Amino acid sequence: MRPGLLFLFLILVLVGTSRTQEHVPKESHNINWSKFSGFWYILAIATDAKGFLPGKDKRKLGASMVRIPKAGQLKVVIAFSRSQGCQSHTVTLRKDNKKAVFRNALRGVKGFRVLSTDYSSAVVYVRLGRAGREYKNLLLFSRQITSSFLSIRDFVDAAEGLALLEHAAILPKDASCANTVLP
Ligand SMILES: *[C@@H]1O[C@H](CO)[C@@H](O)[C@H](O)[C@H]1NC(C)=O
Repeated sequence: MRPGLLFLFLILVLVGTSRTQEHVPKESHNINWSKFSGFWYILAIATDAKGFLPGKDKRKLGASMVRIPKAGQLKVVIAFSRSQGCQSHTVTLRKDNKKAVFRNALRGVKGFRVLSTDYSSAVVYVRLGRAGREYKNLLLFSRQITSSFLSIRDFVDAAEGLALLEHAAILPKDASCANTVLP
């Protein structure tokens, strides 16, 4: 077993599988968005969008650049290695009036929320889809190319809550796609 897989396996054992009912985690409030902005690596993903993740040999770290064009807006660039190669998308999201959730229905982003962050890592939940279809995506953001045990545990906890645990993958530490987002 590769070290990354062994690590994930150990965490799965530690977290246990006692909770079975799906619950959507609450977004974190009181986020300082200017502190949250900037460059992030995406170290892990859990998604129920079939075919989103490329084959194991084509997986690489993703990346995100988050900017705040004005209050209540996020401009998010996401780069991700797909089977077609490294792809990046830019979308401007608007904040919900009441909740710390950002969206852009026209671009198919139904919700972008930060479930937890200490500003050096973050667990981000993104719901994508149009019309009747919806995909859940959980991302582990990190300022560094390595992750702390605590941040992986938060990610695994959230993936379990969203019933995405069996679709979770720690990405190989290849930053060639991620670096395309660097300024
Ligand atoms: C938010 O973060 C910025 C940048 O680190 C800092 O200058 C500002 O004081 C923070 N605002 C609050 C309300 O803590």
